[in-house]
Amino acid sequence: MSQRRLFVTTALPYANGNFHIGHIMEYIQADIWVRFQRMQGNEVNFVGADDAHGAPIMIAAEKAGKTPQQFVADIAAGRKPYLDGFHISFDNWHSTDAPENHQLAQQIYLDLKKAGLIASKTIEQFFDPDKNMFLPDRFIKGQCPKCGAKDQYGDNCEVCGAVYAPTDLINPYSAWSGATPVLKSSEHFFFKLSDPRCVEFLENWTQDGKLQPEVANKVKEWFSVRENADGTISEGLGDWDISRDAPYFGIEIPDAPGKYFYVWLDAPVGYLASLKNLLDKKGLNYDAYMTDPALEQYHFIGKDIVTFHTLFWPAMLHFSGRKTPDNVFVHGFLTVNNGEKMSKSRGTGLDPLKYLSLGMNPEWLRYYLAAKLNARNEDIDFNAEDFMARVNSDLVGKYINIASRAAGFISKRFAGQLGEVSADGTALLASLREQKDSIEQLYESREFAKALRETMLLADRINEYVDQNKPWVLAKQQGMDARLHDVCTVCIEAFRLLTIYLKPVLPALAAQVEDFLKTGSQSFQDSAATLGSGHLIGDYTHLMQRVDVKQLDALFEAPAAPEPEKLTPGGEALAPTITIDDFAKVDLRIAKIVNCEPVEGSTKLLRMTLDAGEGKMRNVFSGIASAYKPEDLIGKHTVLVANLAPRKMKFGISEGMVLAASHADDKVQPGIYVLEPLPGAMPGMRVG
Ligand code: MSP
Ligand code: ZN
Repeated sequence: MSQRRLFVTTALPYANGNFHIGHIMEYIQADIWVRFQRMQGNEVNFVGADDAHGAPIMIAAEKAGKTPQQFVADIAAGRKPYLDGFHISFDNWHSTDAPENHQLAQQIYLDLKKAGLIASKTIEQFFDPDKNMFLPDRFIKGQCPKCGAKDQYGDNCEVCGAVYAPTDLINPYSAWSGATPVLKSSEHFFFKLSDPRCVEFLENWTQDGKLQPEVANKVKEWFSVRENADGTISEGLGDWDISRDAPYFGIEIPDAPGKYFYVWLDAPVGYLASLKNLLDKKGLNYDAYMTDPALEQYHFIGKDIVTFHTLFWPAMLHFSGRKTPDNVFVHGFLTVNNGEKMSKSRGTGLDPLKYLSLGMNPEWLRYYLAAKLNARNEDIDFNAEDFMARVNSDLVGKYINIASRAAGFISKRFAGQLGEVSADGTALLASLREQKDSIEQLYESREFAKALRETMLLADRINEYVDQNKPWVLAKQQGMDARLHDVCTVCIEAFRLLTIYLKPVLPALAAQVEDFLKTGSQSFQDSAATLGSGHLIGDYTHLMQRVDVKQLDALFEAPAAPEPEKLTPGGEALAPTITIDDFAKVDLRIAKIVNCEPVEGSTKLLRMTLDAGEGKMRNVFSGIASAYKPEDLIGKHTVLVANLAPRKMKFGISEGMVLAASHADDKVQPGIYVLEPLPGAMPGMRVG
């Protein structure tokens, strides 16, 4: 078998946040495929990088008070625990802001320009006068031109679903600064995808059968003139706007001062930059590697970024005289616990680092996701109960169990040595070996769910064999030592074969098993051999725990909310509850402030003459001198506690009390506010 040479990537995550479980799923999918290829003896360079550029990252950096460079460096510094934690075997991790990417992106652009595929055009765009920057569509908000909903984004309305241009918004504003954007014209550069050469190339590249059928069909729509659901007409492939004006965190366009590449132009070039960085470190020649006709190039991506990878990217590569991808493998989206969509802002229902910190085995997740992944771009759901069932009953119950049932006897009864296998065991092991080609084929075609299903069916056969032969019974019977040795040897041999079949998914466990069985590193072709009678194995130590439901509870438990402060409206707790009868004891009446004057000798009190409809006036002192000038109160109505016992004060008798509001702590909320009824209330009316 001649060795294949493979260059494999995953999508480059935006460097504006930590990985979420959707990213980890993509890496696990690609990693399983890559590990399978390496087991086949193929040479693989598996690379990733941070996607560092673009307006959103620039704005996020500004908000965080950092330079964009510092901002993305801080994100990059947090990647390792995720990648190591889930056994993702990237050969390199780089950044689209690295020098290799600046150089490669500029060279590709110059090559496209030489091919006559770059045009320039002056366009009008919204500009934020406060921030001195052209605004990306997502940073312009306003009222939907169709339904009038407020605070809608510049590209489409989340209320009525209308699609429009930012300039169609009513009362647009910058979501960044709040300023009203102004229209400003600027020269932009375009990649001429509408050029007949591009259309012809892409129609062929996307429809020659390499892409997943559902992906090819979707892409096909982009070529035709068609009527959209909302009645608008799409023109087929349009030219692609690839430039942005300074200030922009990106790569400068050669010979165009103040112009930068739009982030999606340099992002996929980052695949090449990361590879070049890796080859340089290995002392290998990048150009020679890329021009090797045997080289195969594959990109694993999610279904949301298909157009970039099946139209823009192959066209950029082809017309700049470079190798195009051999294929783009598109996966669906991962949801958590029945379809809850993962959101970048709200975080995820399943935090990968929390998963690890709870001591949950990363290979449980690898196994579970593999058991759901196929070669189509269907969405898959992480379901906590399903996860526990699959790990506990399949992975541990069916597979790990085989070793734990046999290994003890081998070490206790046979000094750790394997024995002779008789005809029935030999036939059983042969039936396991027979599945090798089919399982290899399933890994190759990314049908991981089927590969695991086949492997688990083989585990079922072994467990049936164990149940029929009952080693625990044989162990107690006289003269059955040879049979016991035979049966346990078959189990150990079978366990080794199954471990090979699961190794792309469970690399750490496989390494443990290789240690325990003292086999050295195994690959698919080693399944043909036998360990043989006399082979010495190590002592069995438990290989894998079951999932504990408490771990899942903890994983999905919302982070503890901060203890709510005891609610003390107005600065003091509410008084104990009273009955309506208690309340009725207080006779509140509307009173007119007929006169109001300062009190000589007091800075606090005002003297009021009140008419409460009684045919006589009342004299009331009130501590509101700091808040009101007497003349401002004269003629107003207020509320009087009319049945309060008269109180003798230094300045005279107070015949009641006027209601006023204040905060318990004057320093928190200064001021005192006399109550005034709404217009129409007459003196003497009861309040209640
Ligand atoms: N920066 C671009 C990609 C540039 S590639 C040259 C980007 N970044 S991303 O961080 O938004 O997404 C990175 C990858 O994660 C994409 O392939 C995307 O489809 C994938 N996923 C994002 N959310 C996902 C799920 N919920 N489930 C599975 N994959 C998901 O797009
Ligand atoms: Zn609308």
